[in-house]
Amino acid sequence: MFQVNDNFQKLPGSYLFSTIAKKVSAYSQANPDKKIIRLGIGDVTQPLVPAITEALHKAVDEMGNAETFHGYAPDLGYDFLRSAIEKNDYQARGCDIQADEIFVSDGAKSDSADIQELFAADTKIAVCDPVYPVYVDANVMAGRTGTYNPDTQMWSNVIYMPCTSENHFVPEFPKETPDVIYLCLPNNPTGTTITKSQLQEWVDYANKVGALIIYDAAYEAYISEEDVAHTIYECEGARTCAIEIKSFSKNAGFTGVRLGYTVVPKDLKRGEASLNAMWARRHGTKFNGAPYIVQRAGEAVYSDAGKAQLKEQVAYYMKNAATIKAGLQEAGYTVFGGVNAPYIWLKTPDQMTSWEFFDYLLEKANVVGTPGSGFGPSGEGYFRLTAFGTYENTVAALDRIKAL
Ligand code: MLT
Repeated sequence: MFQVNDNFQKLPGSYLFSTIAKKVSAYSQANPDKKIIRLGIGDVTQPLVPAITEALHKAVDEMGNAETFHGYAPDLGYDFLRSAIEKNDYQARGCDIQADEIFVSDGAKSDSADIQELFAADTKIAVCDPVYPVYVDANVMAGRTGTYNPDTQMWSNVIYMPCTSENHFVPEFPKETPDVIYLCLPNNPTGTTITKSQLQEWVDYANKVGALIIYDAAYEAYISEEDVAHTIYECEGARTCAIEIKSFSKNAGFTGVRLGYTVVPKDLKRGEASLNAMWARRHGTKFNGAPYIVQRAGEAVYSDAGKAQLKEQVAYYMKNAATIKAGLQEAGYTVFGGVNAPYIWLKTPDQMTSWEFFDYLLEKANVVGTPGSGFGPSGEGYFRLTAFGTYENTVAALDRIKAL
């Protein structure tokens, strides 16, 4: 008789954004006349820029022609894309990362969930709290997190590093030494980040204690301040302690196209085992490569036209971020983030819980956001709004919030 993976039974509720989608759908069915503005999930709204759609069209034509048709993609990614990433995202920043350390994938979400397959079963992970739920949930499914305490909303075998306004959202080194540390910077959900010298301290710490950092840099394109690192490999010593995960979703609008990559330096070793070789082996076994068409679109992100057009798109979303931030402040809210990231993190008013504020905002303003407690216990009392809406909807949402 087959048995199921019991670890799935330990997961509380459904995936955060599925829960929100269900709640919003129930509300909208009950109130069909209400025009809901969605500033919840960080999904982009602006169309792909012309440099990208042109590359897609051209690649589609190639696929329709016997001479230029492509079958299975190389499982680690086409050389043209890996070289463009190497040159633009790393060498242009003075970082020593080579194309054969870059693994192209169908997105950062799958990579950030799957990377834990490289670690031993008894690996102790450390996460910021609040945190993008995928890191923890993927480790739960793999049986690495112990038991869940619904009162504390914590797993027994996970190290939580609270990031709240009290510590300016900067994680502190945990008392207990972790094996693997997940860092997402600029941060989802708080929209805050740390300076390059603070990141250097994390790299030094990881090298000292022999820990591995999984560095999620999905929001790197939104960095506006000088002293913030665009990649962890700007820090000295990161090659021996860090894996970096990047997405094309937020910087180029690929949420519906799907493309990402993971950097696994060859210096990452435990005994004879090379993490680069292990990830290549895993990719080869479990993945048949991102589509040729999509990888050509990814290459266009690095063309001169692509870079110029995407700079404008990022500026469009950051104008939304500034609009949200200023509007909330005007309405008397305490707000964080929105300077180096497309997320605004606000304190809920009047001691409301995050979910109470979610319901309040949905019912009274017909605006959807994300409850901070959905990202972890230290997110309680906070709420996230995304800058990825249209400008018109962003302004309208803020007008409604100000009128409450
Ligand atoms: C979010 O809203 O946190 C993100 O859109 C989720 C994701 O990127 O998967």
